Amino acid sequence: MAKKKDLILRTKFAERLCHWFLVICFFFTATSGLSWFYPSLSWMSNLLGSPQLARILHPFLGIVVFLALCFMLVKFAKYNLFAKTDLLWFRSVTGVIANKHDEKLQIGKYNAGQKVLFWLIMTAIVVLLVSGLIMWRAYFAHLFPIPVLRLAILAHAMAGIGLILLILGHIYLAIWVRGSITGMVTGYVSRAWVRQHHDRWYDELAAKDAAQKVDSKA
Ligand code: HEM
Repeated sequence: MAKKKDLILRTKFAERLCHWFLVICFFFTATSGLSWFYPSLSWMSNLLGSPQLARILHPFLGIVVFLALCFMLVKFAKYNLFAKTDLLWFRSVTGVIANKHDEKLQIGKYNAGQKVLFWLIMTAIVVLLVSGLIMWRAYFAHLFPIPVLRLAILAHAMAGIGLILLILGHIYLAIWVRGSITGMVTGYVSRAWVRQHHDRWYDELAAKDAAQKVDSKA
């Protein structure tokens, strides 16, 4: 267990709270959505109480997921903007997968793979929201012609499956990079973890620390 002085705050409380709230809402939205894909998955609609409740709650939960992701977008977008140094990560992706850390890859707070995932998640949720609103029978579906509804249903199904696959990849990577789930639970990661996985962010934090020490001496 690393000492407190060796820990670095990676994710603030409000962001963590939003993330885990998102996980719960996404779980119920995704499972209820999947339950309508194939008869053998229909049992999943009981996770929200009953198939009827699932039908009513799914769109509302979807909106909650969208709003939570808007919050994540506001908080995390600045760390997920692509930089020239991300090319280094893409070029060395096989080394990254093999867990080799000998080369400095100039990785900021999030790596290029996380950034791609982040923007794909954001794109998928926008497609899900727009198509979901169009096909929402209780409120809006009657406003659109049948061909538009058909397109919306297709887009919704594709974006839904796409987002579920992205999240499965996200969970796999979170488990694979030891220490990152602890970071999302407690907020803190070790210095060694930051140096190993996010070298440029580590250098930026070290430079900030050094500048603060100089300021406090002056
Ligand atoms: C059991 C499910 C999940 C686990 C274990 C998990 C784990 C994590 C972890 C460990 C991080 C921090 C990564 C780091 O510090 O480098 C993270 C970030 C994030 N997660 Fe999850 N997550 C889960 C589900 C979800 C879901 C369902 C969504 C959205 C629908 C989501 C969206 C995000 C976003 C947007 C970030 C910020 C990443 C970035 O800024 O690039 N997560 N997650």
